[in-house]
Amino acid sequence: MRLKGKVSLITGSTRGLGKEFAVGFAKEGSDVIIHGRDKEKAKAVAKEVEGLGIRAMGVSGDVSVSRDVERMVEEVIQSFGRIDILVNNAGVNPFILEAEKIGEEGWDQVLGVNLKGVFLCCQAVGRRMIGQGGGKIINIASAAGILGEQGFLPYCVSKAGVIMLTRVLAYEWSRYNILVNAIAPGIVAGGMNTPILKKEPLVSGLASQIPLKRLAKPEEIVRIALFLASEDSSYINGTTLLADGGMSGYRPAGFIDLVAEMMKKKGG
Ligand SMILES: NC(=O)c1ccc[n+]([C@@H]2O[C@H](COP(=O)([O-])OP(=O)(O)OC[C@H]3O[C@@H](n4cnc5c(N)ncnc54)[C@H](OP(=O)(O)O)[C@@H]3O)[C@@H](O)[C@H]2O)c1
Repeated sequence: MRLKGKVSLITGSTRGLGKEFAVGFAKEGSDVIIHGRDKEKAKAVAKEVEGLGIRAMGVSGDVSVSRDVERMVEEVIQSFGRIDILVNNAGVNPFILEAEKIGEEGWDQVLGVNLKGVFLCCQAVGRRMIGQGGGKIINIASAAGILGEQGFLPYCVSKAGVIMLTRVLAYEWSRYNILVNAIAPGIVAGGMNTPILKKEPLVSGLASQIPLKRLAKPEEIVRIALFLASEDSSYINGTTLLADGGMSGYRPAGFIDLVAEMMKKKGG
């Protein structure tokens, strides 16, 4: 019960990783606020999670719209009085397109939800955290914000932005006892990847590129969030924890041979 007595707002928790965070946090004793764009869905998940013996509430709003964010945060404050932990999880990755084919609307959608949305939620909740004497913020970035992936330009840029936002906010808000960290998961077997999980040879092809030879289990990402939300991480601030199964060390097959060849030519 590492989060007993805490109030956690988890954006985008009607399904996928967000719902897993909500269940994981509730099992550790935290009251949880379930959020998505659809209020009925959020309320239904809140009811489910309440079965774990904590208080839950469903709120709705588009994270890329400041008045929605302000309204939902105020609703939470009216009901719970405070927010101890904010998990900025809501995110989208709606298309795979070469850079030259990306439309303005697509760019705005991805950056709007994934980056502006994180900023707006941090700001609205951060103002309350400043007033209440502190809190913890966990931003869900992605390994794609560190490594870069072909066909995912706006997604990669948005997640790289989240990593930088995390650093600067941590620096600025240390004085208010607000700790801000991020998680950068690699490929997770769940959430937005659910539609492809039964597609072979795609999944085994993806897994073969990862040193651990498998996708991440959602609960492995939840455990990192629990660590960052708990007192166990009391001196970690401004960091992005990369959980990619070792993928960041990956180079395409033949790369090492090419390097060896070049070294030989140079006499190295
Ligand atoms: N799955 C992965 O492999 C993976 C890897 C690295 C990082 N991530 C990150 O992890 C987070 C969760 O991903 P997921 O795979 O669980 O995705 P998901 O299953 O598609 O869930 C996304 C959640 O975000 C909400 N959402 C989407 N747009 C929103 C908006 N404009 N305003 C408010 N809520 C919105 C959705 O709720 P409604 O549709 O009900 O509004 C839903 O609850 C994302 O930030 C993603 O980038 C995922």
